[in-house]
Amino acid sequence: MTEDLSDQAAILVMFKTYLAEKNNWLDFASFMHHALFDPQYGYYMRDTYKFGSRGDFITAPEVSDLFGRTIARQCAQILQMSGGSILELGGGSGVLGSDILLELDRMDCSLDEYLLFEPSAALTERQKERIGRLTPNIKSKVRWVSEFPKNFNGIILANEVFDALPVHLLSLNADGWQERGVALDNESLTWQDRPIQDERLHHVIDGLDVNTPYVTEVCLAADSLINELSQSLNSGAILAFDYGYEHCNYYHPDRRDGTLSCHYQHKVDSDPLERPGHKDITAHVDFSRLAHAAHDVGLEVAGYVGQADFLVNCGITDLLASFDPDQLDTYLPVASAAQKLLSPTTMGEMFKVISFTRGINEPLFGFSHRDRLHML
Ligand SMILES: C[S@@+](CC[C@H](N)C(=O)[O-])C[C@H]1O[C@@H](n2cnc3c(N)ncnc32)[C@H](O)[C@@H]1O
Repeated sequence: MTEDLSDQAAILVMFKTYLAEKNNWLDFASFMHHALFDPQYGYYMRDTYKFGSRGDFITAPEVSDLFGRTIARQCAQILQMSGGSILELGGGSGVLGSDILLELDRMDCSLDEYLLFEPSAALTERQKERIGRLTPNIKSKVRWVSEFPKNFNGIILANEVFDALPVHLLSLNADGWQERGVALDNESLTWQDRPIQDERLHHVIDGLDVNTPYVTEVCLAADSLINELSQSLNSGAILAFDYGYEHCNYYHPDRRDGTLSCHYQHKVDSDPLERPGHKDITAHVDFSRLAHAAHDVGLEVAGYVGQADFLVNCGITDLLASFDPDQLDTYLPVASAAQKLLSPTTMGEMFKVISFTRGINEPLFGFSHRDRLHML
C-alpha cells in the first residue's frame, strides 16, 4: 500500500514535469500517451500482468486458441496471393502469434517470417518467453522489429491496438465546443477545457449534430498509423480487430459521455485522471475514420464485419466440430470459449474486423457474408 502511494506520488511528479513544459495544459492525447507509455511509469511499460484472470482485462486471443487458429485460415488465403510474412502490431503476451504460427504449421502453409512490433519492452519479454516455447523450426521464423519493414509483402495484424492509441477529447458545453485537456490544480490532476486549435478537430465537430452536454473522442493517431502501415505495405492485407462503431454510431447523439474507459483488475471506470499509469485507458475505434484514412493513402477497403461473422466466415465452426462433444472435459471449455468469442452479448458484435488491401485481387473469405462496408 505504501509502495502504491509513493508510486502515485512519483507519477504526479512525472505529470508535473510534462505539464510544466506545456504551460500547465496537456491535450488528452498527450496525457494518455504518457499514462500508457512513459518509459518508467506508463501502464504498458510496467512489467505487470495485464491480460487474463491475473491481469486487468481479457482479449480474444487470451480467451481461446480458436481465435488465432481461425485467423490463421484467413492468413493462409492472403499468403497464397501475396506470399511473404506476417507483421503483428502490439502482440500482447505473444499468444496470438504463437497460435497463428502453430496453425499455419499444421496447415503446411508457407510463411517467410513472423515479425512482432511491440513498443513495450516488458511485453516484448513476455512475447519472447511465449514464443520461446514453440519448436525450433517454428520459432526460428519469429523476429522482433523496432520499425515497420519496407516493401512488406503479406499480412499486418492488429488486435486491440487501435483502441490503445491516444485520443483527443472534445467537449460541448454552454461555451460551445472546446478541447478537453488536463491541468494541475491544487496538487491534483483536473480537467480543463480550451479553445480548439487543431483544424482536424474542427473538421470533426463541423459534422456533428448533438446536444449539450456532450463529450467525445477523436483519434488522430489512427490516421498516422494507417499512413505508416500503407507506406510499409507493398502487397497484402492489413487486418484490424477492435471494439468500436461506424461514424454515425460513434458520434450518436445519445452517446453523450463518449467511449473512453479504464480497465483495472477486470473493473471498468471512466476516470483516467485517477491512478494513471496503473490502469489501461482505451477508447472505442471509429471504423469510418480508419476506412477514410486508408482510402486517402491508396489502400483498398476490402471488408468490414462483426467479429462473430468474420470468425464464422473463416470456419470457426469447423474447428469446433473437430472436438468430440462426448468428451466433456475438452469439449465444454472450447464450446464456452466459442460462445464468448461469438455471442452478440460478449465479443461477437461489439468487436469488428476491418481489412485494407493492396494488390489482392480475390475477395477475402472472412468478409464473404454479412459485409457492412456500406455502413462506414
Ligand atoms: C490491449 S493490448 C492488446 C494485446 C494483444 N494484441 C491482444 O489482443 O492480447 C494493446 C497492445 O498494443 C500495443 N500498442 C499500443 N500502441 C501501439 C502502437 N502505436 N503500435 C503498436 N503497438 C501498440 C501495446 O503495447 C499492447 O501490446
